[in-house]
Amino acid sequence: MEHQVAVYRKEHFNAAHKLYCADWTDEENKRVFGACSNPNYHGHNYDLVVKVVGVPDPITGFVINTKDLSKIVAEEVISRFDHKNLNLDTELFNNLNPSAENIAIVIYNLLRPRIAEQLALKIRLYETERNFVDYPA
Ligand code: NI
Repeated sequence: MEHQVAVYRKEHFNAAHKLYCADWTDEENKRVFGACSNPNYHGHNYDLVVKVVGVPDPITGFVINTKDLSKIVAEEVISRFDHKNLNLDTELFNNLNPSAENIAIVIYNLLRPRIAEQLALKIRLYETERNFVDYPA
């Protein structure tokens, strides 16, 4: 009787970023990245949904204790990114454009070692209400 259940935890952080390619002209950057290439950076209100899938523990009934999950996300993600400039304040995006896609991959890689191996992990990141990404796809 192995019933897999998905558990979700929603979190939120505010962060500034800039998307650009140093080899391109300002015009090319503007054409590809639009307002996200604004030289003086800009902010987004990111909504993060962490999904953990597994079989509920026979004693607790939990796939994962959401209190523990919240603490892990706070330590690994929120404390690193909230009210920060992703390009300048973290080393994680030194050579990586902080697109929603890349932020989701980075968040996954930060959380994966903290979540029990037998549990599946998926990250959904909303950059705006209408633009969001899933990793793994
Ligand atoms: Ni942006």
